[in-house]
Amino acid sequence: MNASPDPTSIDTDAGHRVYTSWSLPLYDLVVHGFSNRFLWNCRTATLQAWFDRHVTDRHLDIGVGTGFFLDRSQRLNSASQITLLDANQNCLNASSKRIARLQPTTVQANLAQPFPSTLRRFRSASLMYVLHCLPGEKSFRGEVIHRVAATLEPGGILFGATILGEPCPKGRLGRRVMASYNRRGIFGNQNDSLDSLQKALSDELRAVEIVTEGSVAMFAGSVS
Ligand SMILES: C[S@@+](CC[C@H](N)C(=O)[O-])C[C@H]1O[C@@H](n2cnc3c(N)ncnc32)[C@H](O)[C@@H]1O
Repeated sequence: MNASPDPTSIDTDAGHRVYTSWSLPLYDLVVHGFSNRFLWNCRTATLQAWFDRHVTDRHLDIGVGTGFFLDRSQRLNSASQITLLDANQNCLNASSKRIARLQPTTVQANLAQPFPSTLRRFRSASLMYVLHCLPGEKSFRGEVIHRVAATLEPGGILFGATILGEPCPKGRLGRRVMASYNRRGIFGNQNDSLDSLQKALSDELRAVEIVTEGSVAMFAGSVS
């Protein structure tokens, strides 16, 4: 019998250690300025619109990077309660500074570990460009979605976007970059498909909606 690995034993380091104090300032340009359009064939504006459609005034943002979508969102203001969660302190520092006007709370935590019990009763939680950074075990994605869903109040929305490994990106450069990121552990999405995403989400959420543009799947669903 194939037992699922214990999520706490999965090595997630490569997926978050890449965001150093010198690489993070380049993140917006490389990812949202270039890669979305030219590698993954998804417009950054589409991702921002997805974020804005689902974010609420009591929001848990997981895998914050530079705080790109939070900063640009028209839906948030000083009355919004924003919590930022990330394994990487550089990301927490950069994004909390960027959206200081929203006075966010920060939590350093790894998705492979149980969350602090104080993370509860959010109206929305996002995983924007996070799932594809995690090691590829399907059961691990399910465990992460379960963990995030548990932070939401009844009716709360879990949403996000992820780059799928199947089918491969259309362009040759996209395929080469994705293969290289998977070899280096920066991505773990080689076996991520629409079907596997749908299954992982449907196990935890109701009214699951998935929209694709290029290699990117944008998803949302609510907890009972
Ligand atoms: C590709 S960036 C996405 C940043 C941002 N959400 C965006 O879309 O621009 C992935 C983020 O997830 C974080 N991350 C990756 N693996 C993680 C893990 N195991 N636990 C917590 N955070 C993780 C990284 O540190 C980084 O901030």
